[in-house]
Amino acid sequence: MLQIENSVAVITGGGSGIGRALAEFWLARGGKVVIADIAEGPLQQAAEEMRQGGGEVVAEVCNVTVEADCQRLAEKAIAAFGAINLVAPFAGITSDAMMLKVDRDSGKVVGKMSLTQFQKVVDINLTGVFLTVRECVEQMVNHGCRGLVCLVSSTGSLGTAGQLNYSSTKAAMAVMPKVLTAEFFRRGLSDRIRCNAVAPGYVGTPMVKNMDAKVLGKIVEQVPIGRLVEPEEVVSLVAELYRNEAMAGETVFIHGGLRLGSKG
Ligand SMILES: NC(=O)c1ccc[n+]([C@@H]2O[C@H](COP(=O)([O-])OP(=O)(O)OC[C@H]3O[C@@H](n4cnc5c(N)ncnc54)[C@H](O)[C@@H]3O)[C@@H](O)[C@H]2O)c1
Repeated sequence: MLQIENSVAVITGGGSGIGRALAEFWLARGGKVVIADIAEGPLQQAAEEMRQGGGEVVAEVCNVTVEADCQRLAEKAIAAFGAINLVAPFAGITSDAMMLKVDRDSGKVVGKMSLTQFQKVVDINLTGVFLTVRECVEQMVNHGCRGLVCLVSSTGSLGTAGQLNYSSTKAAMAVMPKVLTAEFFRRGLSDRIRCNAVAPGYVGTPMVKNMDAKVLGKIVEQVPIGRLVEPEEVVSLVAELYRNEAMAGETVFIHGGLRLGSKG
């Protein structure tokens, strides 16, 4: 079993939501964190509040879609703390729309999900994760670190209408642990570097709370536990996947009993 105490977590999307909750969880157990986010204000505020609690925190403004930013982030973690033990590329966005908007009366297509709307989600949720993971794992290999790459998939990975862009990236997050575990195995690294993913349902973070209240109400009605999943519940699972070295190459759902997939 790995210990969180004195271990180093690199967390993108660390200025908000699940990423921030993970950083706070890590610090509360004696770990150190490098938090990265594109939103500088929330990032610095989060870091300041964590430092007031006595935590060892490095904050890095980083756009995960920019290769040089991800390289700098990984190098900064090594320069600051000498190791990377947990890579949590949690920066992500939604940008929902049906692929085609069809007019009910005429039956004709009156709108389309734009290429920009599709690509922006892919750039951040997929390419951004690839870059973050590649750069951090390079440092882990070169510095002999032991630990976990923990991706964040979603129940959307099973196919949610209106989320062709988002669901596609989250399905990719569910296969990456298998690909990377196989690659680490082939290179003799898999006894010290593992990859898993968590796949949450609806979590009470700004991403979900900013939804239309009526839509959100209808969603919560479908959740057997009768509420949103708390960010702390997701990060507790991340921590268990980190501690338990028998967990490798797997994606674990956490959704309060939500029935999975979209109807239709
Ligand atoms: N909230 C949910 O219900 C839920 C469910 C399943 C999966 N997830 C996933 O969990 C992760 C975190 O989501 P959250 O709910 O905490 O969202 P959030 O909106 O609270 O936080 C996401 C953070 O990512 C940052 N970010 C966005 N683009 C970035 C970029 N290009 N570079 C760096 N940072 C960037 C944002 O500034 C923000 O601080 C996401 O990958 C999301 O898809 C969330």
